[in-house]
Amino acid sequence: MGVYDHVFAACYDRWTAASERAGLAARRREMFRDLSGRVLEIGPGPGINLRHYPAAVSELVLAEPERPMADRLERELARSGRPGRVVRSVAESLPFEDASFHHVVSTFVLCTVTDPERALAEVDRVLRPGGSFVFMEHVRADDPGLARWQDRLHPLWLRFGNGCHCNRPTPRTIEASRLEVESMRSDRMPAAVPLVRPMSVGVARSPG
Ligand SMILES: C[S@@+](CC[C@H](N)C(=O)[O-])C[C@H]1O[C@@H](n2cnc3c(N)ncnc32)[C@H](O)[C@@H]1O
Repeated sequence: MGVYDHVFAACYDRWTAASERAGLAARRREMFRDLSGRVLEIGPGPGINLRHYPAAVSELVLAEPERPMADRLERELARSGRPGRVVRSVAESLPFEDASFHHVVSTFVLCTVTDPERALAEVDRVLRPGGSFVFMEHVRADDPGLARWQDRLHPLWLRFGNGCHCNRPTPRTIEASRLEVESMRSDRMPAAVPLVRPMSVGVARSPG
């Protein structure tokens, strides 16, 4: 773990604040509106989603592997007063039983995990049959010009974004997984730099 892991965790809320104010927070709230029961969030970072979960969510399990993020997340969860716990775990190897969650949430995480295919297989495994994977991810641009810039600047962004790949074709990876896509739409991250503006938002279900 390097110094930048601490800087990234400490600055994350500030760096994303403009996008949250410009409409990202409203999108988060909207996508979580129908969640209930036992919810797992992978890669929650400092806990930006906590305030958006509805009261019908009875238990939140937050799987965050990076210590500086997980420490902040624990404080934020305590402040929120929500029933839940932080588990220091990567998405590729989740320490939970099969079919143990009603929903799994991922916002801007599949860009950063080491192995997105493996992470999605784990999401499918821990979801109950018919349970939903609710995602919002920034993705590789459909526009070839912007995609070329994402490829060119990828090495630089990987460092700045602490392991974030700005050019991953995440919609294709979700479609190729065992999860069944119920909805998937393209969106644009408000008030963000062009490299991470293209987003994919949707729901996929575990076939069980
Ligand atoms: C860009 S941040 C997203 C934070 C938050 N989900 C949000 O919506 O803003 C990516 C998060 O994924 C976490 N992460 C990195 N590798 C991971 C992995 N293999 N499994 C799960 N989470 C991971 C990082 O520590 C970080 O908290």
